[in-house]
Amino acid sequence: MAQLQPAGHPPEPSIQAMLDAETRPVPDVLRDCGTARVPARPIDRARYTSPSFAAREAARLWPRAWQMACRIEDIPEPGDYVVYTVGALSFLVTRVSSTEIAAHVNACLHRGRMLREADGHATEFRCPFHGFSWNLDGSCRSVVNSWDFPHVDRETFRLPRAHVATWGGFVFINPSPEPEPFDGFLEFLPAHYATRGWDLSARVKAVHVRKHHRCNWKVALEAFIESFHVTETHRSAMSYLGDAMTQYDVWEGARTTRMISPRGLASPNGPPRSEEEVFRAGLRPALGAAADAMELPAGQTARAALADMRRQALMAEGLDVADATDCELIDTIQYHVFPNLVLWAGWGSYLVYRFLPGATADACTMEIMFLLPVAPGKTVQAAREARDLGPDDSHGLAPELGGFAAVFDEDMSNLAALQKGLNAMATTGPVTGLVQEARIRHFHACLDAFMAEDGPRP
Ligand code: FES
Ligand SMILES: [Fe+2]
Repeated sequence: MAQLQPAGHPPEPSIQAMLDAETRPVPDVLRDCGTARVPARPIDRARYTSPSFAAREAARLWPRAWQMACRIEDIPEPGDYVVYTVGALSFLVTRVSSTEIAAHVNACLHRGRMLREADGHATEFRCPFHGFSWNLDGSCRSVVNSWDFPHVDRETFRLPRAHVATWGGFVFINPSPEPEPFDGFLEFLPAHYATRGWDLSARVKAVHVRKHHRCNWKVALEAFIESFHVTETHRSAMSYLGDAMTQYDVWEGARTTRMISPRGLASPNGPPRSEEEVFRAGLRPALGAAADAMELPAGQTARAALADMRRQALMAEGLDVADATDCELIDTIQYHVFPNLVLWAGWGSYLVYRFLPGATADACTMEIMFLLPVAPGKTVQAAREARDLGPDDSHGLAPELGGFAAVFDEDMSNLAALQKGLNAMATTGPVTGLVQEARIRHFHACLDAFMAEDGPRP
């Protein structure tokens, strides 16, 4: 006899009920909830472990998907370029002029040597092998011993390009000769990020860390798009993070998903906490032991007090957040942009993640970026170079991550073990929660649809 439980509901209060209690106007986009139900089904573990699935992604996903290649501030001056590599594909994302960015295939047309192996600045791309050289726009500049190449038409001897588009201060590329329209790919992101203060093109990438992990890129991605693991993995956050009250949004016909995780209330998975305890716990990541001396203002909830402090601190920096809701100030509002980009919204934190496959199915990189807001009259120094961390390195080796480093180390403790467990697993694969892991199942449905010949969106 099958023993099934009736479907339940996440614990109260819901994010929507918290929004009802806001004292400032709530942006429409926070009321726009994704109501698509994603059927429960096991995820085949081979999707994370098998070389053939990775090969299918290499053939069907990366060569056809729009993908974030860099930030616009990474290449401010003509001649600046970023080497963007995904699997076997590599591009020179190049600022050709003040108005043009091009993504050249990073391979010399002579014998195929990679033209550049690291980011930099160039007036030409001169190949280190025999010295053929290419202009910033990809046209041929010089052929060495040209007498030996009478058969080469200089007009057409140009570096092939991927398509390029920009949004939110990001440069996206698509290697396909006939990509899906960029506007369609963005779905409702421009509408959502038109919310006051959310515009990511107004922010500057001030931190960029590239962490190598011993797991599939999807294993890493999926560890960061649910708050379900907070109770076990990030125990210290339970006292101020309402993990189980997280709202998970999946919209019918869209690939983009979202979650909103509330702060300023305790996880229902832990012991009951007073408002005073939640308030102090919520301040501890920033203040350390000094948080224990802080008094909750009389008559305020922990959530309202934490949001007020955040509002005051940001206003003191010169940022216009007087009308921002508590949710936008302290909660995690996080979007997953298919296939591999994760963006925060509002002022809760300024994170961006990008996940890329490694050389084998069980390796990947996770990039962590901070996109900082810029107050009027102030400047923020852009971090144009990423700091590389090896698979065994603690995030603490990147002091620019501040208090996040310890949290990322907690996450890291699962990743290689997840990959090993998926290899050892004797059942079909992961069994996921109806609500809290709906985004993960939806991502896999989108991946299948995308890789199928003319697959519709689920
Ligand atoms: S491979 Fe580039 S010049 Fe020969
Ligand atoms: Fe985590």
